[in-house]
Amino acid sequence: MRILIIGNGGREHTLLWKLAKDRPDAEFFATQPNGGMAPLCKGVEIAPGDLEALTGWAAARQIDLAVVGPEAPLAAGIVDRLRSKGVPAFGPTQAAARIESSKAYAKDLMAKAGVRTAAYAIFEELAPAQDYIREKGAPVVVKASGLAAGKGALVCETVQEALDGARMMMEDRAFGEAGRQIVVEEFMTGEELSVFALTDGSEVLVLLPAQDHKRIGDGDTGPNTGGMGAYAPVGLATPELIEEVISTILRPTLTALAEDGAEFRGLLYTGLMLTDEGPSVVEFNCRFGDPETQVVLPLLDSSLLDLLAEVAEGGSLAGRSLRWKNACALTTVMASEGYPGSYPKGLPIAIPDDLRDDPDVLVFHAGTRRSEDGLVTSGGRVLAVTGLGDSMASAGDRSRAAAARIQFDGKRSRSDIGWRELARCSPAPGAGQVKRA
Ligand code: AMP
Ligand code: GLY
Repeated sequence: MRILIIGNGGREHTLLWKLAKDRPDAEFFATQPNGGMAPLCKGVEIAPGDLEALTGWAAARQIDLAVVGPEAPLAAGIVDRLRSKGVPAFGPTQAAARIESSKAYAKDLMAKAGVRTAAYAIFEELAPAQDYIREKGAPVVVKASGLAAGKGALVCETVQEALDGARMMMEDRAFGEAGRQIVVEEFMTGEELSVFALTDGSEVLVLLPAQDHKRIGDGDTGPNTGGMGAYAPVGLATPELIEEVISTILRPTLTALAEDGAEFRGLLYTGLMLTDEGPSVVEFNCRFGDPETQVVLPLLDSSLLDLLAEVAEGGSLAGRSLRWKNACALTTVMASEGYPGSYPKGLPIAIPDDLRDDPDVLVFHAGTRRSEDGLVTSGGRVLAVTGLGDSMASAGDRSRAAAARIQFDGKRSRSDIGWRELARCSPAPGAGQVKRA
């Protein structure tokens, strides 16, 4: 079996690692693999954004399964193209990926489907957007509708901040075309939860829920990043809550997509806010989350490959289930100095050899590459160091202890990933905590 992973960050290293465990005899390829992926696969020197070259290559090499990690190629229609050339691809079509690539589309879809989400209005002109912001008052949230690499949502404490944010998006085009349309929405309060659902368009298999930490600093302070750490499972995510999410959010959303001619086959990521009124959707993503994948997949005992192949080939998930390890996982992201602003690249990284032999530590690479001088940094988020344990406390201790032993100049990481869960002091839940629908 020939498997192609499209993308080369921490999420894709984790996907490759898991699929290689599921099917050690398969031949793996990845686009421009990072330093951690390279030893596990053959590199394909085509950028994930070069759809034409990638599709031609995958068809010529008779790839049996293409797994698409990032949102950009999905939004550009890579899955439609691969399928048109007979290459089974895991991920939604361009039409279904709009649930992430257009926040305006996602909000209108939720309104139509009766799915709980923050009250909102959509604007294509600045003056009416600013009138609406003044009318609603602060706090308020202003979002670029298009893809903005996780930076397009501004949570504004004051009306002035929101007025400036709307101008920055619509007039200054700080996020380019992504800010042509904006969504202004009500500010919600509560804890956030990331829920991944594998779906064939109607059946859903919910993975272990996770929580990520988007802010750069300890105590969830400072600017937003792509994610500084994550943990799973989350004590708040009871089986009852997940059933509610399936029946009030996932099923109605998938039905509405199908009715729109945009059946969603792939991984639907729901970003939830657990409000006093119940779970409410902050956003949908059309792919696995990063760094949540780095904690969810190490806890999955059953084969991911079989399920991805089934969905990619147009099959059904009916009757399928997932088996989970009775353990906790916590990942600490190690970032470059300056991230999420500008940062240096090319700095040597030293990872002690014995970490590789520790079954409770997994070092997933994100922004690394192998150079003539060995492993060097090549991105803002460099590594995600996952610790496993029978409690969240031991998983966290292992993650932080391993991160402390890995060296590169200017390394930055948070020391408090999982603090909400530790404050709850919940024991490791047993296998089968999350049931399939
Ligand atoms: P998004 O890009 O839509 O996921 O938003 C990024 C982050 O902004 C979320 O993870 C939340 O922390 C915050 N956020 C987004 N929308 C809201 C909202 N309506 N109320 C409160 N916080 C929000
Ligand atoms: N962890 C947030 C994301 O993947 O978008």
